[in-house]
Amino acid sequence: MLDEQKKKILLDLIKNSSKDELLWMNGYLNGVVAGQAPAETTAVAVSPAVSKITIVYGTETGNSKKLATDFAAKAKKNHINAKVVGMDTYRLTDLPKEEYLLAIVSTHGDGDPPEAAKKFYDHIHSNGFKLEKLKYSVLALGDTSYPQFCKTGEDVDVQFGKLGGNQIVPLQKCDLEFEEDANKWFSEVLKTLVGAGNGAATATPAAATTTAAPAHGAPSLKKTGKQAYEGTVLLNTDLNDRGSNKETFHIEIEAEGIEYTCGDSIGIVPENPSDVVTAIIAKTWADGNKIVTYKNEKTTVYELLKRKVNIIHLTERLVKQYADTTGHTIPAGKADLLDLVNKYPVKSPTQFEEILVGLNAIAPRLYTIASSPAAHEGEVHVIVARDAYDVNGEKRYGLCSDYLGKLKAGGKQKFFVQPNKRFRLPAENKDVIMVGPGTGIAAFRSFLAERDATGASGRNWLFFGEQHFASDFLYQTEIQNWHETGVLTRVNVAFSRDQEEKIYVQHKMMEHAAELFAWLDGGASFYVCGKKDPMSVDVENTLLKIIEKYGSKSPEDAKKYLEAIKEEGRYEKDVY
Ligand SMILES: Cc1cc2nc3c(=O)[nH]c(=O)nc-3n(C[C@H](O)[C@H](O)[C@H](O)COP(=O)(O)OP(=O)(O)OC[C@H]3O[C@@H](n4cnc5c(N)ncnc54)[C@H](O)[C@@H]3O)c2cc1C
Ligand SMILES: Cc1cc2nc3c(=O)[nH]c(=O)nc-3n(C[C@H](O)[C@H](O)[C@H](O)COP(=O)(O)O)c2cc1C
Repeated sequence: MLDEQKKKILLDLIKNSSKDELLWMNGYLNGVVAGQAPAETTAVAVSPAVSKITIVYGTETGNSKKLATDFAAKAKKNHINAKVVGMDTYRLTDLPKEEYLLAIVSTHGDGDPPEAAKKFYDHIHSNGFKLEKLKYSVLALGDTSYPQFCKTGEDVDVQFGKLGGNQIVPLQKCDLEFEEDANKWFSEVLKTLVGAGNGAATATPAAATTTAAPAHGAPSLKKTGKQAYEGTVLLNTDLNDRGSNKETFHIEIEAEGIEYTCGDSIGIVPENPSDVVTAIIAKTWADGNKIVTYKNEKTTVYELLKRKVNIIHLTERLVKQYADTTGHTIPAGKADLLDLVNKYPVKSPTQFEEILVGLNAIAPRLYTIASSPAAHEGEVHVIVARDAYDVNGEKRYGLCSDYLGKLKAGGKQKFFVQPNKRFRLPAENKDVIMVGPGTGIAAFRSFLAERDATGASGRNWLFFGEQHFASDFLYQTEIQNWHETGVLTRVNVAFSRDQEEKIYVQHKMMEHAAELFAWLDGGASFYVCGKKDPMSVDVENTLLKIIEKYGSKSPEDAKKYLEAIKEEGRYEKDVY
C-alpha cells in the first residue's frame, strides 16, 4: 500500500519510538482516520497518551465492580492497560506510586462508604502522606432518594484533591439508572487519556452497559436495575407474645420464579399512609386526580403522594425549598410534609404541585431474607421490627416497618432482591458461628434452614438475644428443634431484661470464649447480623478480646488476626 519512501519513513519512526509513543501514534492515527483530528504535527507535542491506569472500585452490591470491569475492557480496546482492583484488596502502600487512578464507589447506609471500601476510605482520610503524582477522576454511584446522595464519591474526590492529586475529569454522580452517566464519564476519561482533547485520537466510545431486564412487572422498582417481583403475602404474624415491648413481624411472600441466595436481602418501597395523604390533599386544596409529571412519568397527585414521593422527615434542603416557594420563615431542620402544610400553608394548589414534584422518591428499605431457597421453594420470608420513635412526646412509627406490619395475607407486594455477595455460607463441611440478636436472627434462620435442607456437615453455633425469654424468644420452637436434631451444635441465648444486670450476646460469647476461639482458629466463619450500633461494635470488641486472651496475642496482633480472617471472608457482617 505505501510506496518505498513512505514505508521507510514509517519503519524508521517505529524503530526510534518508545512503546508509549507508538501507542500514542496509534490513537492519533485512529483519530485522523475518523476525521476528528487535524493532521498537524503540532498536535504531537501535547498530551502524551497514557498506557497504564488503575481502576479501584468500592461496592456493596456489585454495580461499581461491574462498571470497573466493563471500563477496563474498553480501556484495553483503546490500548490502555487497566488494572482493576477492589478497594478492600487494594495495597494502600501503592497509592503514592499511582499516576492515573480512577475510583468508582457507591454510597450506602446513611451516607457511608460500602463495607468493602471502608479501609481505603479511612486511609485516604488519615494524615501523613501526599499523592502529588496522582491524576484521578471519581465516579460516584448513589440514589437521589437518599439525603446523602453520592456522599462517599464526593468525599473521595475532595480528599484526592486535598492530598495533592490532579483531577483529570470532574466528579460524576450517578442515580440508580447509572449506565448513561457512567458511560459519559468514562468517554470523557478516555478522551483525556488518549489525548483526544488536544486534537489527537478519538477514543472508542464506551458502549452502553446492559442491565438485565426484570422479569416480573413492578415498574416502580425497575429503575433499581435489580430483579423485581410481585408476590402474594402468605402469612404475616407478630412473633412477640403478650407483655412484650416489641412488635416483630414474620412475613412470608410467595413469588413465582424467585431466585436468591441465603445472605441476600429484599428491598421494599413502602407506601405512605392513606390518612396522611388525604390530610395533605385536603389542607392544600389539591385535586387528587390531577395528572402531574414526576421524573418524566405522568401520574396523579394522589398516586404521587401515596406511592412515589417521600413525605416524612424531609431534608433540610427541601424544607428550605418549601420556605422559599411559600414565602414563610421556617426554622432550619427536617420536617414532615403534613406538619409543614399545617403550620405553613401553601398559597394555592398550583404552588403545592410545584413543591410536590420537587420531592425525593421514597427510598427502598432492605430486609434480610429469613428463608432458604432449599427449604422454602418459591417463597421469601422476612422479619420486621416495628420501628417506633418519639416526636415532641408523640409516638410515631417507621414508615416501612409500619406499612409491612399491616400487610394482609392474600395481598400483593412488590419487592426486589438485593444480593449480598460477601455474606455467604462457607463450604458445607465448614463450621459457622452466628451472632444474631433481635431481627439479626433473620440471616441465621436462612442459613440453618439451608444447612438442614441440604444436610451440610459443618458445625453450627448460634448466639441469640432479646429482652425477655417469655415474650421475645423469636423462633424458639424452630431453634429448639434444630438443636435437638443436631443441626445446631450449640446455641446460647441472652435475655437482657430477665435479671437485674443486662446480659447481651457478647457476654455469652465471653462465657464460652475458649471454645469460641478454638472454633475460629480451627477455620470457622464468624457472622454478625442485626443492629450496627451498639450491638455489632460490642460483638467485635468482645471478639478481639477473645482472640487476644485465648490466642495469646497483643491487642495489635488480635486486630491483625481479625483483619486476616476478614480477608479470607471468614468474618462477615450484615448490620444496619
Ligand atoms: C442490609 C439491611 C438489612 C436489614 N434487615 C432488616 C431486618 O431483617 N429486619 C428489620 O426489621 N430491619 C432491617 N433493616 C432495617 C430496615 O431496612 C429499616 O431501616 C427499618 O425497618 C426502619 O425503616 P422504617 O421505614 O420503618 O423507618 P423510617 O421511617 O425510615 O424511620 C427510621 C428512623 O428515622 C427517624 N425518623 C423518621 N421520620 C422521622 C420524623 N418525622 N421525625 C423524627 N425522626 C424521624 C426515626 O429515628 C426512625 O426510627 C435492614 C437494613 C439494612 C440496610
Ligand atoms: C441500604 C442502602 C443504603 C443506601 N444509602 C445511600 C445513600 O446514603 N446515598 C446514596 O447516594 N445512595 C445510597 N444507596 C444507593 C446505592 O449507592 C446505589 O444502589 C448504588 O448503585 C449501589 O452501588 P454498588 O452496587 O456498587 O454498591 C443506598 C442503597 C442501599 C441498598
